[in-house]
Amino acid sequence: MSNPATPPAVGVLDERPPLTFPPGFLWGAATAAYQIEGAANEGGRTASIWDTFSHTEGRTVAGHTGDVACDHYHRLTDDVRLMAELGLKSYRFSVSWPRVQPGGSGPANREGLDFYQRLVDELMANGIEPWLTLYHWDLPQELEDAGGWPARDTAARFADYALLMADALGDRVKYWTTLNEPWCSAFLGYGSGVHAPGRSDGADAVRAGHHLMLGHGLAVQALRTAVPGAQLGVTVNLYPVTPASDAPGDIDAARRIDGLANRFFLDPILRGAYPDDLVADLAKVTDFGHVHDGDLATIATPLDVVGVNYYSRHVVAAPVPGEQPEAYWRAQACWPGSEDVRFVTRGVPVTDMGWEIDAPGLVETLRRVHEEYTDLPLYVTENGSAFIDEVVDGQVDDVDRLAYFDAHLRASHEAISAGVPLRGYFAWSLMDNFEWAWGYTKRFGMIYVDYDKQTRIPKSSARWYAEVIRRNGLAAQ
Ligand code: FCB
Repeated sequence: MSNPATPPAVGVLDERPPLTFPPGFLWGAATAAYQIEGAANEGGRTASIWDTFSHTEGRTVAGHTGDVACDHYHRLTDDVRLMAELGLKSYRFSVSWPRVQPGGSGPANREGLDFYQRLVDELMANGIEPWLTLYHWDLPQELEDAGGWPARDTAARFADYALLMADALGDRVKYWTTLNEPWCSAFLGYGSGVHAPGRSDGADAVRAGHHLMLGHGLAVQALRTAVPGAQLGVTVNLYPVTPASDAPGDIDAARRIDGLANRFFLDPILRGAYPDDLVADLAKVTDFGHVHDGDLATIATPLDVVGVNYYSRHVVAAPVPGEQPEAYWRAQACWPGSEDVRFVTRGVPVTDMGWEIDAPGLVETLRRVHEEYTDLPLYVTENGSAFIDEVVDGQVDDVDRLAYFDAHLRASHEAISAGVPLRGYFAWSLMDNFEWAWGYTKRFGMIYVDYDKQTRIPKSSARWYAEVIRRNGLAAQ
């Protein structure tokens, strides 16, 4: 194995050929409820773990919360108009569980459902296919108080909630994603604690990961009957994991992190088993006693599509005795049983998150899912970048973000040429929003949001993306 390849520099749009995508390619943009809706205490909504977490001192940058966010709850008509102006074919949004089922159990909240019904109607009136994610991290606080995802019962609650949404929107919504990025919910929420609910226990993180997947499987079974003709899937965040050198210790570090980051979810969901080496790596953390007979069959309930979120690559190296992993990774992530693996930076261009820009990693990721796991249609359900934006004369010329999208769309096309059944791409994000523990300090949007005035400015990347959608591909440069 050779050293990880250095990705080509992004930022300069040099000469590149035009590329056309397959007919019907689903061009979209994505958001999530807690990141954009605001109206945290309106319409019967109760608190989620993100409300509690963001209102706890020291948890988010500058104490930012999603109380108001982009005020999308009150501006949905204007926001859908912006989507229509972009020419979006699809919009991926998530439902706030405590808005539609306050407290996480019992009957639906009519007012909460009304909001999503209006959103879906508005989208369809504008020819935009709604793509619904049931869980983008905002667990009702009452369910966390009862044990959260480390508790098995939360999986059953999730399936009930899925059915409640099927009743409300099953006649209009075709694409249903159960979970967004269960790795983040489990390992950032219950492992490192940098995400809500902010707990730090390796065994709880592993249990949470299992119960999230169990909830996914139960929800797929429920939706399969309740919404005939639905396209059901899950969204996982995947990273190519590359050893820093071909030294055996580095190769083993890559195997371990790949196990925790990728195969922990891919193998149960698409193969019905945890990988043996992962179970062995986690032996000191858990005995997997939380896995009951039949769970893995439920988790592997057949799907129609798989969603892949892609942002960057991990390059890792063997632990050095006495040396701590780089501060960023110590703080950001949790790798139970493999805490001492070192995350290496290569000195290639990074986004404002510090994430290395690596478009070839998207080709690798999509090919891997297709070649090693499944023939199902794949969708990039998130891909994008944070950069510092400046408003000059009422315009935002975000050339770095535009170049990032361009490079990753070229990578998507390359994956299709290599035989991957990639059927769509969702830019993250439609608009700037509450970036979790980073609050409003990181901007990922194609549309700039002035949070004081709640005005929106489509950035250069938005205008460029509209042109990509219109052409169904990329122009020559
Ligand atoms: C993903 C999340 C999304 C957003 C992007 C930047 O992990 O799914 O909500 O925060 O990262």
